[in-house]
Amino acid sequence: MKFLIINGPNMNMLGKRDPSLYGNMTLNELNNFIDGFCQKNGDEAQFFQSNHEGDIVDKLQSADADAILLNAAAFTHYSYAIHDAIECISVPVCEVHLSDPSLREAFRKFSVIEDVVKFTVKGLKQDSYIEAINQFKQSKTNKAQA
Ligand code: DQA
Repeated sequence: MKFLIINGPNMNMLGKRDPSLYGNMTLNELNNFIDGFCQKNGDEAQFFQSNHEGDIVDKLQSADADAILLNAAAFTHYSYAIHDAIECISVPVCEVHLSDPSLREAFRKFSVIEDVVKFTVKGLKQDSYIEAINQFKQSKTNKAQA
């Protein structure tokens, strides 16, 4: 499968952000970790990070992938533009978080994209991305067997 991994604002600061929430990896290390996992399974991964809402909307609209892993970071909690972009496209999107936002400050408890994504994986640090990939692959296998 071809996966597009999109990371939103401040995800380029991983490694400097609170490791108890986000782990110790830099974004580059995280991407290499995901890429290694995909290569092992014969899958392909493309990576995109932006601090800008419109760039994330553009990337969603032009995605050439079988599935998208989206960590919209703080945009998760208030970006209706990203909500609407996910709604417009046919590529399935998984909402991914390193931390578990529902266990944190009140403003993080609500996701405005939750109702338009296929599923959400959160709180597993870097393994949230691996779990999302596994779930997409499992749903593809289930569909093929049906
Ligand atoms: C995050 C959680 C968000 O609330 C936060 O704004 C982030 C990262 C996560 O991966 O845990 O920047 O999406």
